[in-house]
Amino acid sequence: MILPIPIRKLLANKKGKSIILALFIIYSIWIFHYSNSKFKLQFKPGNNGSIFLPTTSHIDTINLKRFASSSSAAPPSNISNLRQQLSLIFPYHPHDKIPRTIWQTWKVAKSDPTFPANFKSFQRDWEASINARDDKFQYTLIPDSNIEIFLQATYGEVPLIIEAFKTLPNNILKADFFRYLILFARGGIYSDIDTVPLKDLSSWPSLKGDNWKSTATQIPYKGKLAKDTNPPEWNEPGLVIGIEADPDRDDWKTFYARRLQFCQWTIQAKPGHPVLRELILNITATTLNSVKTSGQWHIDSKFKKDYNVNWRDRRGQDSSYDHSKKKCLNNVDGTDIMNWTGPGIFSDIIFQYMSNLIQQNNDILLINDNLNQDENETNLMKSTTIFYKKIMDSLQLKGVVPWEFFGFLKQPVLVDDIMVLPITSFSPDVGQMEAGTSSDSMAFVKHMFEGSWKEEADSKNSS
Ligand SMILES: *[C@@H]1O[C@H](CO)[C@@H](O)[C@H](O)[C@H]1NC(C)=O
Ligand SMILES: *[C@@H]1O[C@H](CO)[C@@H](O)[C@H](O)[C@H]1NC(C)=O
Ligand SMILES: *[C@@H]1O[C@H](CO)[C@@H](O)[C@H](O)[C@H]1NC(C)=O
Ligand SMILES: *[C@@H]1O[C@H](CO)[C@@H](O)[C@H](O)[C@H]1NC(C)=O
Ligand SMILES: *[C@@H]1O[C@H](CO)[C@@H](O)[C@H](O)[C@H]1NC(C)=O
Repeated sequence: MILPIPIRKLLANKKGKSIILALFIIYSIWIFHYSNSKFKLQFKPGNNGSIFLPTTSHIDTINLKRFASSSSAAPPSNISNLRQQLSLIFPYHPHDKIPRTIWQTWKVAKSDPTFPANFKSFQRDWEASINARDDKFQYTLIPDSNIEIFLQATYGEVPLIIEAFKTLPNNILKADFFRYLILFARGGIYSDIDTVPLKDLSSWPSLKGDNWKSTATQIPYKGKLAKDTNPPEWNEPGLVIGIEADPDRDDWKTFYARRLQFCQWTIQAKPGHPVLRELILNITATTLNSVKTSGQWHIDSKFKKDYNVNWRDRRGQDSSYDHSKKKCLNNVDGTDIMNWTGPGIFSDIIFQYMSNLIQQNNDILLINDNLNQDENETNLMKSTTIFYKKIMDSLQLKGVVPWEFFGFLKQPVLVDDIMVLPITSFSPDVGQMEAGTSSDSMAFVKHMFEGSWKEEADSKNSS
């Protein structure tokens, strides 16, 4: 490097060197502050100091997949819309690999003597599953005492998210919300503490490479195949979920929140995935408006009911129910949990996103090797044949990905970059809904069902 003469002179003596060093330090501090304040400026709320919480419904004009992803230009200097803020801070990179990280959470740290022995052995199985491997998987267990530190470090620029987390009136709601937040910020695999891995992680279809896709069947929608529009891209999937429930019986409502319900005790994702963004938006907006009376946010006043969990579900039709009543620890029940943060809302947002994908884009890959239209199959009632026509009508004419698309799954399904695994994958051995056993080649995680969250919710004990 050629330095100007005065600087070379300064460098020649000790005093000069310390002056240069001091100047350099001042410069670095200034640059740090400058870039920091520039960053903060981007997220200054609008004129009246309040941030807009968009609803995740009524999104007909938004392409959720491409939202904000093409804007390589400098972001506008005042972004008062939470969807935009989240997209800027956690941009989605579909070509990246899924981070090789495993996340778990528990009340206390691994080293704590009160850590339950059964969970300890499950948790060690996860650690062992990665120690056996040579590629660089990491394992992290976050105890409750570190959750706020973690949130501050990841979501410090979007304080409303942290506020929503703190506002949730119950620990089960918080535990649900936190798994989405970890995966959205960092990506990897989240799995509940009462689960065990059954196989080497590299055997998961999401990490196995693309071989399984070469013979897979592409399903047309809107009268076309995606490959006619664009050659399909073979990236690792951005979101990997399993089926929790597919109860083919009339009384399914007695047991489950949705006729086809995705499980959220084990999820694999890349950071910034738009499904997680929409889920986080929905939970943040409904939480702030259902629990608090006011704050630094405003909502879409045309759709007030969207923001109030008391209008969701059967209560919506109950005129004797006080819908304006704020939520607190004493009036949250199992129904709320399903539809507020749990598998109910998780499944709803995924279906909404998938339908948005095919309505707004012509290059969405649909792969499903489970669909069967052979009317002469021996056990017609247990076959997708009974759904075939409805599925096709829905995809071709309505632009809706119907739940039937995931009925009776035996092989993974792909909708763009969302991989849906059969019930056997994360829920083997349940002995119903066609689930296989732990020894099935599609079984990857076993849920030991020792969380018993329902009991905890009903006793209102949220320790
Ligand atoms: C933020 O943007 C709005 C709309 O684009 C504009 O009217 C307002 O003046 C801006 N506020 C600040 C603080 O720059
Ligand atoms: C702030 O401005 C937005 C949009 O202009 C408006 O909808 C909202 O009600 C305002 N909030 C407050 C607290 O005045
Ligand atoms: C949250 O999602 C549910 C289910 O799709 C929807 O009914 C509700 O309007 C959404 N609310 C917000 C604020 O996004
Ligand atoms: C939860 O919400 C869904 C969809 O809005 C609704 O059909 C269902 O009845 C609700 N769950 C319960 C148990 O009320
Ligand atoms: C099913 O069986 C009927 C009667 O045996 C036959 O007419 C029909 O062609 C078969 N359909 C298919 C798809 O094989």
